[in-house]
Amino acid sequence: MAVTRLSYMSIYALDIVASEKHYIEVVGLRVTGRRPGQVYLQAHESQDHHCLILNAADRAGLHHIGFKVNDINDLAEAEAVARDWGLVTRRVADEEVLGQGQGVMITLPSGHVLNLFYHSDRLGYSYGMNNPDIVLAQVEGVTPVTHLDHALLVGNDCDKTVKFLMEALDFNLTEMILAPDGSPFAFFLTTSSTIHNLAFAPGPSNGLHHIAFYVNDRADVIRRADMLKHRKIATLGYGISRHGIGGVTTTYFFDPSGNRNEFQCGVYEASTIRGNVPPIVWAGENIPRGTFYYEATIPPDFFEIVT
Ligand SMILES: [Fe+2]
Repeated sequence: MAVTRLSYMSIYALDIVASEKHYIEVVGLRVTGRRPGQVYLQAHESQDHHCLILNAADRAGLHHIGFKVNDINDLAEAEAVARDWGLVTRRVADEEVLGQGQGVMITLPSGHVLNLFYHSDRLGYSYGMNNPDIVLAQVEGVTPVTHLDHALLVGNDCDKTVKFLMEALDFNLTEMILAPDGSPFAFFLTTSSTIHNLAFAPGPSNGLHHIAFYVNDRADVIRRADMLKHRKIATLGYGISRHGIGGVTTTYFFDPSGNRNEFQCGVYEASTIRGNVPPIVWAGENIPRGTFYYEATIPPDFFEIVT
């Protein structure tokens, strides 16, 4: 099974017009498609059709997550293995998701729905594919993010979910947090050389803690923290911080529906040979330093606010 990096997040939007504006003007994505009640967006430096789908709804939170596979035959294999694990699956028709081929949706024990698919239409980079200029001609007020990087999900049965992703779909565990009693608490999983595509922590079923977008460097995170304050975007109390986990520079903010976003940069390169490098392990009492390295304390509602 060859699952590539996180491809897209499909999320709910209470006010889809406000959300579209947010993801264009604050995050720096471009609109790549529309359907009634849906807007598709992509980073300027990514070629596939979308990295984010906004779905008009009377709630916030996560609709489903998309991962691409490297071989069309992986879809049937994933479907069979998911059923062996007792998980609910559903075939997704060609173009049911705009710009995308058929897929297999798997409902994970944590309540999250994973859509594995093979084909995405290629739109090319905003810079162009022939003799490109490295400077974008038209960007609406913000330097673009480079790509959708990862999501922290919360749900029930995280350990069973992680076991399935590792044993059935070949995800690799890069870091892990232990609860005070020493049992596994939170998990950081990757399918590529980045430290995580998905992280899991306990919480309400199908919960979304945050969606992270990658930016060029630490100075870019600082400029974006200024921009968030200037635009009066709801943010985490901390401005710029650093995670001990992964060592990344980070700042958090919220979209108009209350879904938490993150700008981050500076990940280390993880081994692409799955299972070859043991995970970094954080003992429970170090969670504050692992979460916010500078402050070494966690804002009271940081783990409580999920959508
Ligand atoms: Fe993150």
